Amino acid sequence: IQSTITLNNGSVIPQVGLGVFQTPDGETTVNAVQTALETGYRHIDTAMIYRNETSVGEGIRRAGVPRDDFFLTTKLWNDDIRAHRGLDAFQESLDRLGLDYVDLYLIHWPADGWQQAWDDLQEIYASGRAKAIGVSNFQQHHIEELLNNSDVVPAVDQIESSPQFTNQELIDFLTTKGIHTETWSPLGGTGGNLLGNPVLAEIGAKYGKSAAQVVIRWHIQRGVVVLPKSTHAERIKQNFDVFDFNLSPEDMDAITSLNTGHRNGADPDDFDF
Ligand code: A2P
Repeated sequence: IQSTITLNNGSVIPQVGLGVFQTPDGETTVNAVQTALETGYRHIDTAMIYRNETSVGEGIRRAGVPRDDFFLTTKLWNDDIRAHRGLDAFQESLDRLGLDYVDLYLIHWPADGWQQAWDDLQEIYASGRAKAIGVSNFQQHHIEELLNNSDVVPAVDQIESSPQFTNQELIDFLTTKGIHTETWSPLGGTGGNLLGNPVLAEIGAKYGKSAAQVVIRWHIQRGVVVLPKSTHAERIKQNFDVFDFNLSPEDMDAITSLNTGHRNGADPDDFDF
């Protein structure tokens, strides 16, 4: 049975969600979302800049899952942050999705102007059109600045984290602030070769699970929200078949020790998009 987490505002979020970064707009995204929901996923994570919100909405409608039964996240893009278009950009996302609320709305990156964007998100939250609000790619110093200027604590910070780049110090800091961690590139991302690591295959063999399933289970047991991405139906299903086994503490440690400290994606203190 799938696990859920209660966020600091009371929202309940399913711990495994389908990520759709780099999932092409059109039938690929429609099918991925529909397959995920029909498999039992109740959590989809998109963003304006993924340019597939319209197809995400279509996949949701084709699956026919009642609105209250699934959790949908989207994100405010950097250009809209810099242009102070938070409120308008949010409504545009809702219109593309064909929804009248999202479960979680995030500032995608700490782009110049994110402080005002956080004010916009609080206004959206107060209106009820986002049931929770949070941030993504915020480092400790961004969170500290935010908390010094706001009474509303972000529900989540969505950050890069995988066995290759555990990002554990930041996760521990977020935990002390009551901010839940969501992980992107949880499988090491596209272009990486984490899943080819023989340590993961060996551990998986003990449980009859693949390397990807082992890594997703590792995330679940460390308590974070995990957002694996796949466009393939078989993998989407496989990535959700992770609730019937438990990694031993030794296996958890062996996976954690794969950490290289090197990011797969962009550095939140040095990005140019
Ligand atoms: P694909 O979309 O072609 O299935 P992350 O979630 O860390 O960003 O990683 C996603 C990458 O891992 C994608 O390249 C995805 O490819 C691949 N992937 C996702 N699920 C699996 C799986 N169960 N087995 C192998 N590769 C997977």
